[in-house]
Amino acid sequence: MKVLMVCLGNICRSPLAHGILENKIVERKLDWTVDSAGTSGYHNGELPHKDSISIASVHGIDIKGQRSRLFVQEDFNEFDIILAMDTSNYNDILRLSRNEEDKGKVKMILNYSHPGQNRTVPDPYFEGGFDGVFNMLEEACEAFVIAHSE
Ligand code: 4NP
Repeated sequence: MKVLMVCLGNICRSPLAHGILENKIVERKLDWTVDSAGTSGYHNGELPHKDSISIASVHGIDIKGQRSRLFVQEDFNEFDIILAMDTSNYNDILRLSRNEEDKGKVKMILNYSHPGQNRTVPDPYFEGGFDGVFNMLEEACEAFVIAHSE
């Protein structure tokens, strides 16, 4: 399975989700891949935010190899599941979808840990904090792995 994590800048939230899931894939020897992207392209080519790098590192996860990139329509060809961090990411991704199959690939990530609630992963800079956001994404990624490996 190929999973894509998406937020706005691809420097704070989705790089953490990418690193957390990647770690679980390695630990559990799953035949999956994970990548991340942003709907804005504002930070193309940049490293993850220093505070995302730090909180990941505290948990033994290295995300320094990641670089921000823009989400593009071709990602619907490449990935099986596209996980949005918030409703504006979700709507921006759906706007690029071409058909029902594309649309069906897009989910709100926190619906794995909090089904049906359409909760948002807040921007850690202004709300939620990097520690809080890490914990939220850890819980959601764990629920995601359990849901898809049974
Ligand atoms: P992210 O956070 O979407 O979690 O990577 C943001 C980073 C940068 C911007 C917005 C959100 N920005 O507008 O530059």
